[in-house]
Amino acid sequence: MIDDLQLLDGFRLPALGFGLYKVPLEQTEEVVVAGVAAGYRLVDGAEFYANESQVGRALHRIDIDRSLLTITSKFWGEESQDRDAVLASFDATEKALGTAVDIYMIHWPRPNRNQYVDVWRTLIELRDAGRVRSIGVSNFTKEHVGRLIDETGEAPVLNQVELHPYLQQRELREFHAQHGIITQAWSPLGRGNVLEDPLVQEIAAAHDVTPAQAIIRWHLQLGNSVIPKSVNPERLASNRDVFGFELTDEDMARFEALEQGKHYGTTPDERQ
Ligand code: A2P
Repeated sequence: MIDDLQLLDGFRLPALGFGLYKVPLEQTEEVVVAGVAAGYRLVDGAEFYANESQVGRALHRIDIDRSLLTITSKFWGEESQDRDAVLASFDATEKALGTAVDIYMIHWPRPNRNQYVDVWRTLIELRDAGRVRSIGVSNFTKEHVGRLIDETGEAPVLNQVELHPYLQQRELREFHAQHGIITQAWSPLGRGNVLEDPLVQEIAAAHDVTPAQAIIRWHLQLGNSVIPKSVNPERLASNRDVFGFELTDEDMARFEALEQGKHYGTTPDERQ
């Protein structure tokens, strides 16, 4: 099943979720309620998005077996990356959400500070203490992930990076596949820019789907986890309606030709 990925720690992950970055505070609660009602089971959050108590309020309202949902958060670490700072952030997130964090990630490697391996050790500690189920990273390069594996013997279950048809991250995806790490795509629609692409529009029209649906399906067929963001309940629902068609090998090859190395967001080495 294309919407169910195996994590290397034995747990499973719904491949398709929705992201909460830049969802305005006053809309967050309704977006989360609408997202789960539309069938999403993966909710991608972070301390930095500053809307975790709104997510918590929404989860409180939703009548669903909690074990069916995967709730994520990420350690921001701009001020301090020390063990105490990680633990304090984690506590604050858990309190804001009012429920367990299923997957906790390091949001950025901040490589100039050279502390991400120690932060990773604290995440391992949290997991070993049973406070979080799975641990991962975000915005890590192959080299950063390689260091985690070499120095701690533990790979992240996933690495969430900017990934869309204009930035396909092929080398990183291959590295992840070799290590059993799930590639998770943020800004999977290229902040909406790839929706305008004539080739994407042509492929979408041939399948009688929207450009967003075609792109999301492309991610799933690559084996990515994917977290498109929308504040609009109709678009949120239609972005999940991607299980009734299949892109052909030729469609996938045409998507592959769209690579441009184009970043819309910050790159891993930029943020310190
Ligand atoms: P909106 O929130 O108003 O729907 P990404 O996930 O790549 O960052 O892209 C998010 C952007 O794409 C947002 O601006 C979002 O706007 C827009 N978007 C998301 N889904 C769709 C869709 N199905 N059709 C058009 N725009 C979409």
